[in-house]
Amino acid sequence: MTSVNFISNEKLWSIRSGELQYILKVADDGSLVNLHFGGRVEPVESISLGGHFPFEPSLHLLREEYSTFGGLRFMEPCLKVELPGGVRDCVLKYESFKIEDNNVLSITLKDISYELFADLHYRAYPAYNIITKWAEIRNAGPQPVILEEALSGAVSLPRGGLWRLTFLSGHWAGETRIVQEVLKAGKKVLESRRGTTSHQLNPVAFFDAGDAGEEEGEVWGCLLGWSGNWKCVSEYVGHDQLRVAMGVNDFDFSWHLESGESFKTPKMILAYSASGFGGLSRSLHRFERGVVLPRNNATKPRPVIYNTWETLYFNVNEENLKQLADIAAEIGVEVFVVDDGWFKGRNDDRAGLGDWVPDPHKFPRGLGPVIEHVKSRGMIFGIWVEPEMVNPNSDLYRRHPDWVYHFPGRPRSEMRNQLILNLSRSDVREYVFNWLDRLLAENDIGFVKWDMNRSFSEPGWPDAPRGREREIWVRHVQAVYEILDEIRRRHPNVIFEGCSGGGGRVDLGAMERFDQFWTSDNTDALDRLYIQEGYTMAYCPKTMGAWVTGVPNFLTNRTLSLEFRFHSAMMGALGISVNLLELSSIEKEEAKMHIEFYKKIRHIVLDGDLYRLKSPRSGGLAAFQYVTPDKTESLIFVFTLQQGFGRREPLLRVRGLDPSLIYEVDSSGQSFSGLYLMNYGIDHGIRGDYKSKVIYLKARR
Ligand code: GLA
Repeated sequence: MTSVNFISNEKLWSIRSGELQYILKVADDGSLVNLHFGGRVEPVESISLGGHFPFEPSLHLLREEYSTFGGLRFMEPCLKVELPGGVRDCVLKYESFKIEDNNVLSITLKDISYELFADLHYRAYPAYNIITKWAEIRNAGPQPVILEEALSGAVSLPRGGLWRLTFLSGHWAGETRIVQEVLKAGKKVLESRRGTTSHQLNPVAFFDAGDAGEEEGEVWGCLLGWSGNWKCVSEYVGHDQLRVAMGVNDFDFSWHLESGESFKTPKMILAYSASGFGGLSRSLHRFERGVVLPRNNATKPRPVIYNTWETLYFNVNEENLKQLADIAAEIGVEVFVVDDGWFKGRNDDRAGLGDWVPDPHKFPRGLGPVIEHVKSRGMIFGIWVEPEMVNPNSDLYRRHPDWVYHFPGRPRSEMRNQLILNLSRSDVREYVFNWLDRLLAENDIGFVKWDMNRSFSEPGWPDAPRGREREIWVRHVQAVYEILDEIRRRHPNVIFEGCSGGGGRVDLGAMERFDQFWTSDNTDALDRLYIQEGYTMAYCPKTMGAWVTGVPNFLTNRTLSLEFRFHSAMMGALGISVNLLELSSIEKEEAKMHIEFYKKIRHIVLDGDLYRLKSPRSGGLAAFQYVTPDKTESLIFVFTLQQGFGRREPLLRVRGLDPSLIYEVDSSGQSFSGLYLMNYGIDHGIRGDYKSKVIYLKARR
């Protein structure tokens, strides 16, 4: 089935991607218009461009595909440039197009007078109902051009009605909370100005007409694959038209394009589902596993991790690591990760970042003996790094105080006592790449947790080439991507976990380089139900790192059972950070049992389809179901919250099963048809608050 079709007499392109259809057309004045973004439409030729009212520019400009600041255009532009001679007007008209492999469309637009081109690229992923798009701005003229805004693109939602926006908001230790609001007029801007994706907002925007539910109704999704400053503008541009523009944030941004140079934007990801938010999430999850995640590890299970952070904090040394490793191996851990604290002078968060050699007091014989010990217990050795950072109290900073972003003679604001290395400089980039490459070449390390623990401030680059000072926002992210890509190429067996004070840098750009993420520094198993629910709106459980930690929880002071903590953490990539030395032998046995169970069922969680049966936000009960793609196995995680006597919880009506198959429940001998389980339901049988259970369904052969 061809995804991209060109209807020449209409100058119209139709991109079909499963349930999603995207239609573009060249209007009589040469501008490119987004005729449709949504469910399937036939015949496409019947769609009209819209009319014209006096006192208004032509209505079709309200749906312009890649609008500029130029001519009679008043909405958020995708492109704002300064052309030679101080010209701040840019109008793009259709030039040419190309279709490759039936699923990639490229349309070239050109300014009406200057040799400035915009190549708009579209790629269909029919198996996932997804289209990605990005733009490349090319200066083919003889003189430099300055880009003041260059977004990835915009989409026009079906005209009419009020749209509801669903997005993910939060803060450190409280990421990805689901927020919904009805957009009524004007602009709603979601953005980051912190240099990273941010904890506060995530580049994800879902739209519905206010009537979609978890499993029913139409939902449109716009996401951005970018780990730096970003912006998403939802704007009523007139006549009930909602337009959504997304890309690198133009705030404090400028990009100098010399003659012959081009600027490539990050990808905007468009998704559509007629099966509610759950349907949209499942499409995204499949797309991430099938396309986005680094290919070498995408189909592999995620290992069970032990991480030292919530046990030892900065107090790691050869002795205590060996002791912990022995118990970790005993209970079934597969990767033993030494978190912060292992490098020179790192006794707390006030010193050491930048000096990436083992601390001579904690590791007088280097890391070798610990790595050998971990390996001898059958585990992979993992390590924490924070390559973009430096503490002023470090040898590196004392040698190179000019290597951080700063404005000369002005304060360098510290967050967590640290400053950001200026990766826009090639010498700093090389330094960072080299020590990391050496660390991985000289030690048998199979897992790296790459952290990034502060936001940008005073973003100065004193010796930048003139006119390029404000490029740091993009150059920094490009540098992180380049370093990671090359490190991955040279060390293909290493698993990379992305972290930024928890989930501060989770997005589809980062997901091309990180196999999994540290979801949040909040490890309270109950708080996690909310954070994880929000995370899975856009991102797949395979990438969702979740640990079992000690009680009372260090943040919330809450004590939950070991079982509840395991069940909450098992819904993603399982890790442990509980102090193993303090576990009783009974607790150790219990932990071992949970880990054994997880290893048996993790393929369902990591590579299955997720159904959010009952949101913790609805109170009383939370339930999440995972089903294998062939529908022969399923898991239901149930958590009771506050229950009241006489308020009977409804039966759990499960989803995604094959109605004609017979499923055995928990090898209990009890069996029900898929039809029965989906339409009548199952009694979870839990009584009492803050209890949990995993129900396992297996189809009988
Ligand atoms: C961040 C991470 C934690 C831990 C600490 C170490 O906060 O999110 O998991 O690695 O840094 O300093």
